[in-house]
Amino acid sequence: MKEILGIDVGATGTKGAIVDIKKGVLITDRFKIPTPVSKKPEAMAAAVKEICQNFQWKNKMLGIGFPAVIKNKICYTASNIDNSWIGVDVYDLFNNKTKCYSTIINDADAAGIAEMTYGVGKKWPEGIVILLTLGTGIGSAVFMNGVLVPNTELGHLKFKGSIAERFASNSARKKKKLSWEEYGKELNEYLVHVDFLFSPDLIILGGGISKQFKEFSKYLSKNLDVKPALHYNNAGIIGAAMSVSYGQKNKGN
Ligand code: BGC
Repeated sequence: MKEILGIDVGATGTKGAIVDIKKGVLITDRFKIPTPVSKKPEAMAAAVKEICQNFQWKNKMLGIGFPAVIKNKICYTASNIDNSWIGVDVYDLFNNKTKCYSTIINDADAAGIAEMTYGVGKKWPEGIVILLTLGTGIGSAVFMNGVLVPNTELGHLKFKGSIAERFASNSARKKKKLSWEEYGKELNEYLVHVDFLFSPDLIILGGGISKQFKEFSKYLSKNLDVKPALHYNNAGIIGAAMSVSYGQKNKGN
């Protein structure tokens, strides 16, 4: 079992590819479709099924990264998806829909697993590493000596009378039409706060925006150890596929 379909379910887009989990690389092109606007369970499960059908993936192992807290197979939060997700048995839903055997973990945890194994985090097997995905929301994956602490939700830290992802996510940048300087400074305030709380040895920034790291990194404090993710937007797919064989104790389910 080294080729697994990994699916990264986002609030905006749902994408998948077959991954060689021994090498941590995509072995097919990505197939991406918009996440259904309703963001309700049935519709989103149908989108996942469409990705499986595209790769003719049936009765096989499937790894899914999902944008919510997933614990004991249940979805516990719904910040950028419909509220009706709360309490849903995501294993039941996705297995029935896709006729596959799925493993489902938080999307940022999935990206973190990929980056720690095959990306920049590889060189940090010890200490505290935090990966933050800056997309529609902000996802987080916290690693202590290489072991994942699942479902940390650092994008929801109280920040400026609201929560951090409303200020420092990529969607906040777009919505408020922030310049790179304005965004960089906003992000810096958030990262300084995360740094103060956890004193990480490394912060990795993931999500599509990490491609533009050079544009905003000059506004980040020199005291922070921040690096862009190596796998940019593919970390979510690679990590989702890897979650199928990732240690049971680290699965978040
Ligand atoms: C959700 C997280 C998710 C992140 C990125 C946040 O709004 O609460 O669970 O990891 O968005 O998708």
